Amino acid sequence: MSGRSLTEVLDQLEAHERPIVQSLSFDALRKWVRSHELIKQFVPKTPPPEVDHLLSVAIALFVHDGSEGKGYATHTIVDQAVRACGEYDQTMYAKGLVNAVLRKVSLVLQPPEDKPYYPPDPIPMYVPAWWRANLKRNYSKAWQAILYAQAKRAPLILRVNQKQYTREQYQVLLSEAGIASFAIDSVAGISLPSALLVANPVPVSDLPGFYTGAASVQDAGAQIAATLLNPQAGDLILDACAAPGGKTAHLLELADCQMVALELDGTRLGKIGGNLDRLRLHSEKVKVQRGDASKAAWWDGVLFDKILLDAPCSASGIVSRHPDIPFLRREADVKSLQHKQREILTQAWKMLKSDGLLLYVTCSVFPEEGEDQAVWFAQQHSNAVRLGAPGQLLPTEANDGFYYALFKKNGP
Ligand SMILES: C[S@@+](CC[C@H](N)C(=O)[O-])C[C@H]1O[C@@H](n2cnc3c(N)ncnc32)[C@H](O)[C@@H]1O
Repeated sequence: MSGRSLTEVLDQLEAHERPIVQSLSFDALRKWVRSHELIKQFVPKTPPPEVDHLLSVAIALFVHDGSEGKGYATHTIVDQAVRACGEYDQTMYAKGLVNAVLRKVSLVLQPPEDKPYYPPDPIPMYVPAWWRANLKRNYSKAWQAILYAQAKRAPLILRVNQKQYTREQYQVLLSEAGIASFAIDSVAGISLPSALLVANPVPVSDLPGFYTGAASVQDAGAQIAATLLNPQAGDLILDACAAPGGKTAHLLELADCQMVALELDGTRLGKIGGNLDRLRLHSEKVKVQRGDASKAAWWDGVLFDKILLDAPCSASGIVSRHPDIPFLRREADVKSLQHKQREILTQAWKMLKSDGLLLYVTCSVFPEEGEDQAVWFAQQHSNAVRLGAPGQLLPTEANDGFYYALFKKNGP
């Protein structure tokens, strides 16, 4: 791996190439543990990275998990993988190796009648040793369930834009387009008025009214944020770490509030504007601004009624949507992210009105970025009162993992 995220790499592809490349690469990363057990079994010496990656993609196609249609025939997978070697293999070494290994793997995985293979046991998601140790230490009972849940393809969950449709109205539109959906009414006891699970995932281009802002793709666990912050007409709200703008947009869909959407990364900043355009949510009340939330340089001094702090974090809770994350993170990242989160929390608190609300969110399962931070913050600020919020939400096959803590500012 080059150290770049898959999203960055996929963003550089032609639009028509993206869906298939994304599907193959995500699938290979989710099934990494199983494919590497097999590669080790049949290849005595570690193959060069290009061959290893090609084998991983091909084996993932054999290791069918029931969620991706019918699967491909053995000869198609072997044939395509061998042809792909031609791109860089001058020596025939790779072709011979890939052909031999895949034929052996196919005998193990696919019975003679060429039926797709359904693994007898769930496959756990690959994570590095330090990550696994962290999960084991903090979730002695649930750590394996977390890894199994994260190796599954995440479901397609929508947030209906309530400025345009009620959930029920949009379900009718979906059904007229032949798309079955189910309402998700709550997660962790927090009600979700706009969440829909699409039974059989479709490309967003097939969703009725997607390009005119009828709905967005957003995990159910992420949809809690706006409900907890409970935006009201006239509120001045800061979304301190806003890109790509999923939660900014959700807040604006729920109430006619004034919003500052702050983002440090200039490239990601553009995505906020794109989302607000699509959702028809741009107005003079919304300011999209580049700035560092851990500093006051960008701020005009006007205190906020509410602050959403969806902090930069390890993203260890959203691995089923971003299966490259465990391959990219280093153990030291958690410590430096924790430090950055504390800086942003401290600065944000100074920008909040008396009686205002601050919602701290991370998409992490590491307590260093969740409960430890909330406890530290309350110790540092005697005027911070903790209100009810779900705390740590663990990833399941239905939702990603998030951490939520809500604070009220009691006095200046
Ligand atoms: C978890 S993401 C936010 C997701 C967003 N709230 C949503 O729901 O679409 C965190 C964002 O914080 C940004 N960020 C990181 N450090 C920051 C800082 N010091 N100030 C402002 N934004 C920052 C990152 O670039 C990233 O876009």
